[in-house]
Order: sequence, then structure tokens, then C-alpha cells
Amino acid sequence: MIEYRDIGMAYGDNVILEKINLTIADGELFVLVGPSGSGKTTLLRMINRLTEPSQGDLYLDGKRVKDHDLRQLRLHMGYVLQTSSLFPNLTIGDNITIQLEEAGVKKAERRKRALELLEQVGMEAEKYISRLPHELSGGQQQRVAIARAMASQPKLILMDESFSALDPVLRRQQQELLLKLHQQSKTTVVFVTHDMQEALRLGDRIGVIKDGHLRQVGTPSEILQKPADQFVADFFKSARPRLGTMAELLASPYTKKTKEKNSQSVNKVEEIAVLPEIAGYLKFAYQGENYQITTSDFLHYLGKLGD
Ligand SMILES: Nc1ncnc2c1ncn2[C@@H]1O[C@H](COP(=O)(O)OP(=O)(O)OP(=O)(O)O)[C@@H](O)[C@H]1O
Ligand SMILES: [Mg+2]
Repeated sequence: MIEYRDIGMAYGDNVILEKINLTIADGELFVLVGPSGSGKTTLLRMINRLTEPSQGDLYLDGKRVKDHDLRQLRLHMGYVLQTSSLFPNLTIGDNITIQLEEAGVKKAERRKRALELLEQVGMEAEKYISRLPHELSGGQQQRVAIARAMASQPKLILMDESFSALDPVLRRQQQELLLKLHQQSKTTVVFVTHDMQEALRLGDRIGVIKDGHLRQVGTPSEILQKPADQFVADFFKSARPRLGTMAELLASPYTKKTKEKNSQSVNKVEEIAVLPEIAGYLKFAYQGENYQITTSDFLHYLGKLGD
């Protein structure tokens, strides 16, 4: 469990984070989203102690981060940045297992582990293990970076804009990969992005940060349905430039006709987004017919529109 308790950060007179209180549970995929300069990276780097808060304390499993052994702390944490941070002169295999080497794992075992990890991130292991980073595409390098972050089976992986430099198709693939790996491993992931669409796709919960303040922490559907303030509402709107037409939504496999008579009538997809959720469903009437869609399917549908 990660707990930020009354965290503040200032560089000289420049206050960049104020009174941050946030708890991230084990196994969560938590997304920190906000515009450029809002303080996301600063908050993230407090977890692996690349940044020390100027106020308050951060706790990992009930113990202050600053009381943990720094080497052990970092050895048991994955960290994936925006651009590939692979060592250019090391093979893909050696890049992946560098932390294992530090931890004293023998060569044959490291190779076996690198092969497994490459397969897990969807790469042909034998083909790539001996290559150098520059012989891989940007998307492949990011996959290797994820494999490296998972190598020591960390309880926690930190990701800072890890997919932001990729084109939309690759980015979508990496998001799917992360969701799959997270489901399999139940590792805690803290993922930083400035892209609300990405946050909605990935997050079990999302923290929206602006100017060093956490504006809202909630599930994607809470943020969709009850934005805490105008900023969150506008930021969310910017994530879905196109909501599509009612005809498209009704043609999707997610919407089901129902026999219920008392649903609220709507004319546009926007109006469905703000309907109250009833036992996990959004229920509405359109042109005399009644329909329902689960909130998670609705979010999934909106996410797909961005492609
Ligand atoms: N070492 C530093 N010294 C002084 N100011 C800093 C330092 N690091 C960050 N800042 C300032 O703190 C604020 C928050 O920076 P941070 O990198 O956390 O933002 P961010 O949300 O990650 O932005 P981006 O989306 O652009 O990566 C910015 O205004 C930045 O200029
Ligand atoms: Mg940043």
C-alpha cells in the first residue's frame, strides 16, 4: 500500500504540490492524470525516492519511504519512462535482466527469465534476445522496457508517460498489453499520463491533478458521472472529441433493448454519460424504445471511439 500523507513540495518559493493525501491499494492500476506541469512526475518519483517531499511523508506498506533501504527499495520496483531508457550497448536479454544480475542471479537463469519475459510482452524471444536496442522499433523497445520492469517480479511498477511517444495504434496495443499483464500479475501499477482517454482506459482508479492539487480521485465511472469540479468535467470532455451518434451506439454490441418502460428519454450520447447509474447500468429510452448498457461497456465503447 502506498500512502501520501499531507505531502507538499516546493522549489524555493515555488510551491508545486500542496496537501496531497492519497492511498493506493495493493494490486491497483492507479492512473495519475493532469496537464503538463501539474506535478505528476514529482509525485511519482517520491515513491522511488528520486524526489524527496519538502512536507509530509510517504509510506510504503506502513513504513516511511525514507526509512526503507534505498537499494532494496529500487531493486523491487519497476520504473518505465516515456522514451526507451535501455542501455544501448547491452543486448535486449541483458537489459531485461540487469536487476537480476545485481541481485546475484546466475547467467543461465537470467537467460531463461529473459526469454519468458519477452514472450510475455508478445515478442519472439529467440529472435530478439541477442539484439541491441537500436535494432528494435520504438514500440518494441517500450515492450522490452516493460519486460525489464517486471523482471524482478516487483510488487510495484511506476510508469511515467510510458506510451506517450508511440503512434496511436502502437499505443493502443501497449495499453492492452499492460491491462493483460496487470490482470495476470496483480502487481500494483502507478501510471502517469496527461491523456484523460488513456486514464479512462487503464485506470482502476484515477487521480486528477491540476496545479499541484488533487482535484478528484475516483473510478472512471465516478469521474465520468460525477466530476468534482468544472476542470475535471472539461478535462474529461476533451478526452472524447467525438462521442458518435445514437445510431452508432445502438448498433454496437454493448447496448441491449429492455422491456422497462420508465427509462429516461435521451436524444444524444452526451446525455447518457450523465445518467445516474442503476446497479451498474445506464438505462435510457430513445425514439420510443428502451435500452440499457453497463457503465463499464459504455466507457469501453467511448474508449474505442478514439481509435
Ligand atoms: N528540479 C526542479 N526544480 C524546480 N522546479 C521543478 C523541478 N522539477 C519540477 N519542477 C516544476 O514543478 C512543476 C511540476 O513538474 P512535474 O514534472 O511534476 O510536472 P508533470 O505533471 O509531470 O508535467 P509533464 O506532463 O509536462 O511531464 C513544474 O512547474 C516544474 O517546472
Ligand atoms: Mg511529467
